[in-house]
Amino acid sequence: MAGGSNVSGQQAGAEPRALRRHGADLALFPASGRAVIMSRIVLITGAAGGIGTATAEQFVDAGDTVVVSDLDAIAAERTAEALRVRCQDDQRAWAQATDVADRAAVGTLFEAIRKRHGRLDCAFLNAGIGGGGTPLLETDDAIWDACLRVNLDGTYNCLKQAVRLMLASGGGAIVNNCSILGVNGGASAAYTATKHGIAGLTKSIAVAYSGQGIRCNAVCPGLIDAGLGARTVQAGGAKAEAFIKLHPAGRPGTAVEVANAVRWLCSPESSFVTGELMMVDGGYSAR
Ligand SMILES: NC(=O)c1ccc[n+]([C@@H]2O[C@H](COP(=O)([O-])OP(=O)(O)OC[C@H]3O[C@@H](n4cnc5c(N)ncnc54)[C@H](O)[C@@H]3O)[C@@H](O)[C@H]2O)c1
Repeated sequence: MAGGSNVSGQQAGAEPRALRRHGADLALFPASGRAVIMSRIVLITGAAGGIGTATAEQFVDAGDTVVVSDLDAIAAERTAEALRVRCQDDQRAWAQATDVADRAAVGTLFEAIRKRHGRLDCAFLNAGIGGGGTPLLETDDAIWDACLRVNLDGTYNCLKQAVRLMLASGGGAIVNNCSILGVNGGASAAYTATKHGIAGLTKSIAVAYSGQGIRCNAVCPGLIDAGLGARTVQAGGAKAEAFIKLHPAGRPGTAVEVANAVRWLCSPESSFVTGELMMVDGGYSAR
């Protein structure tokens, strides 16, 4: 098992028996009948940024092994190093720079995961960019193309590889990073279109592969005070205030609050949850 295990609650003298369920390795302790999760192999794309890094920290804290993937090679390596220091284990985080929009590079990433670990238990497909925030007529064609390539093609490229590897290794759990704009309308044409596409892909994969041990869900964050959202929040002013007011919680969310949802959707506790677009939005979509 890569990087040891985080087997907790082990009773003295009880020999664990390995099991594989919900795409994760479990250790079953016959004496107590308890099954606890072992170190999983987790891929996070866009892991060198706000929500991605916060999620990587949670998985590493839980004893998992994290593949830190990002377009920014230096930031990815820095993030992986910080994770290794955090868990004091030089095996439980490694970086691979990958442009998710580059199909060949995504293939290389997954081949590296297969060679190193032989399997993938969880994938948080989080890499994404803004779409300029403009309505259709003001949308620059180059920004439209870039937004589709990274957000939608990038998610598709990673999903295809992740489903293949998970099917070959007993199943797994995928979480896509969508948005409130994957479920609700938004004036930002390019971003809204790509996030609705990710919502559709999430459901399509749930329908097609749940019978083969793959769950696919999405988190739909509202305004988060990290990464892309931090720029809006920290700019302040009337625009930021108006956006925050659309969240009944009266505040932006945090990267940790999104990470909490991702971690749960990857855990055996959500074993019958698939195709779900989980709002992490302080009530934005409940209005
Ligand atoms: N922050 C928010 O308010 C918010 C709200 C809803 C959804 N989201 C979504 O959360 C995800 C993460 O964004 P964030 O807010 O943490 O911003 P961020 O900019 O900090 O993180 C995005 C990461 O993706 C990487 N990236 C960009 N293009 C890439 C590519 N082509 N290939 C690989 N990696 C690439 C960036 O280098 C960066 O590290 C995005 O999908 C975003 O749409 C964010």
